[in-house]
Amino acid sequence: MVIVFRVEDSTIAILGAGSLGTRVIDALYQRGHRNIIATRTNRERLEEIRQQFRTETTANNVDATEKSDVVVMAVKPYRLEDVCQEIAYVTREKLVISLAAARSIAQIEAILNASRVCRVMTGIFVADEIAAYTLGSRCTTEDAGVIRYIFGDRAKEVKEDALADRTWIACDTGLIAKAIEYQIAALPELQHDEARRMYGATLEGIAKQFQRGMTGHEIFSAVAGPGSFTGKLHESLQDAGVYEKLMDCVKRTVEACKPKT
Ligand SMILES: NC(=O)c1ccc[n+]([C@@H]2O[C@H](COP(=O)([O-])OP(=O)(O)OC[C@H]3O[C@@H](n4cnc5c(N)ncnc54)[C@H](OP(=O)(O)O)[C@@H]3O)[C@@H](O)[C@H]2O)c1
Repeated sequence: MVIVFRVEDSTIAILGAGSLGTRVIDALYQRGHRNIIATRTNRERLEEIRQQFRTETTANNVDATEKSDVVVMAVKPYRLEDVCQEIAYVTREKLVISLAAARSIAQIEAILNASRVCRVMTGIFVADEIAAYTLGSRCTTEDAGVIRYIFGDRAKEVKEDALADRTWIACDTGLIAKAIEYQIAALPELQHDEARRMYGATLEGIAKQFQRGMTGHEIFSAVAGPGSFTGKLHESLQDAGVYEKLMDCVKRTVEACKPKT
């Protein structure tokens, strides 16, 4: 008899239900998936997660892994090796998805030497984002389907080196939002919540153009006619070296997010 694996019926463990892990649980919950087991060490936070998502929770990574078909590792990179060592003997032939930056598939496979290991890089909006993923040496094509089920249909397979670039986009979600707050704080008259809604609609407009293939330079040109405020402001930012600083930030972050061998 052939047993067909259906991800919809599978039990998915989220080891390290913190900021991103909780968002992954939420994305699964929103799509109707209920067989989820969440772990972290803080029992009060675990109880909150249990109540919010009516999901099983435990502080025991081994128990959660044993009961699951798919394991999502959402702990910080510096905790990853320890958690891998802890669960190594119960992950045989299971799909293990690491969300950690700066730890390579080869490093994880060296510990989980009988598991199907892959890496996914996404951001806090999970299914609304386009995740990037890389399959490890033992993964199957069905595993890509599991990744798309959890992280959204638009998830894209990339070479492992490109995952560090995707990490920057996850970081920038917070920086863009923060930069907008500084700008709203400098507006003298508009109510801040009103300004946020206006920004939100404008971001949706920009997003639509990006999705259609327009570049940021083209959007800028459409806004910044000769002698426009936008054009002059762009020149003053350029003169102040703001864009170079930003590019330097990107390069340093990407370098830090690359696995060290
Ligand atoms: N946040 C993002 O937007 C984002 C984006 C892309 C990638 N990532 C990646 O996602 C991973 C998690 O990042 P995060 O921002 O979500 O970090 P986080 O909020 O600190 O979440 C990690 C969680 O792991 C738990 N934890 C620590 N030790 C554990 C253990 N031994 N067993 C089980 N759980 C344990 C911690 O909770 P307790 O203290 O209760 O144990 C913590 O809540 C990182 O590898 C990061 O590179 C995050």
